[in-house]
Amino acid sequence: MKRGIFIVTEGIDGSGKSTQAKMLALWLRKRGKKVLLTREPFTDRLRKQLRSGKNHNWLKLFTQDRQIHLRKEVIPALKKGMTVICDRYYYSTLVYQLQPKDWEKYSSEFIRPDLGLIFDVSVSIGLKRRLERDTRIQQKRSFFERKKVLEQVRKKYLLLPKVFPEVFIINAVQKPNSIFKNVKNVVLQMEKMKIKNFQSYKFQKKFK
Ligand code: TYD
Repeated sequence: MKRGIFIVTEGIDGSGKSTQAKMLALWLRKRGKKVLLTREPFTDRLRKQLRSGKNHNWLKLFTQDRQIHLRKEVIPALKKGMTVICDRYYYSTLVYQLQPKDWEKYSSEFIRPDLGLIFDVSVSIGLKRRLERDTRIQQKRSFFERKKVLEQVRKKYLLLPKVFPEVFIINAVQKPNSIFKNVKNVVLQMEKMKIKNFQSYKFQKKFK
């Protein structure tokens, strides 16, 4: 059986990527596809560590988390021919933990997605959406520290398509339904192209 399609949604905090991932899963299911909607960080352990506010070797923890996720969920679903939609994947590690010079080497250790969708908003819009959702009032200082970090992260997201041809930037400022129209267009285009060009993304031998 042919392996399923692997789609990843990405973006800075408050970009709306998780809403779009859900909308995409619903739409694909309506079109008769079997879909696994999943997310990273995958393990409860890592999610707890993220909330603890303590410092950790994040690169190592996210990498281990991804290995478990691929083995337990993603690879079995792809092998069954399912479409997998993953909310955050190695693109997050590339932009949050690594520098562009390390991108190709790091990503070559994992299955390559067929499509990466980056939902792009400015850092101030992203943070504003987050604050509206989050009842905890953040300290001014940590707010600005985060802002600086996220500006760097956004810049790196915008660089990704130069290195990874399967990555598309989607303007995520409008309302969810308008954004989703663009998502549908990109996905339909990918499905057409996959027949011709997406051979390069076929299941790498070592992941069989
Ligand atoms: P979480 O709140 O679970 O996700 P989201 O922001 O999508 O709702 O937080 C995940 C955080 O972890 C997010 O700020 C990005 C970060 N992260 C990394 O730094 N590297 C990674 O490889 C992944 C998967 C996430």
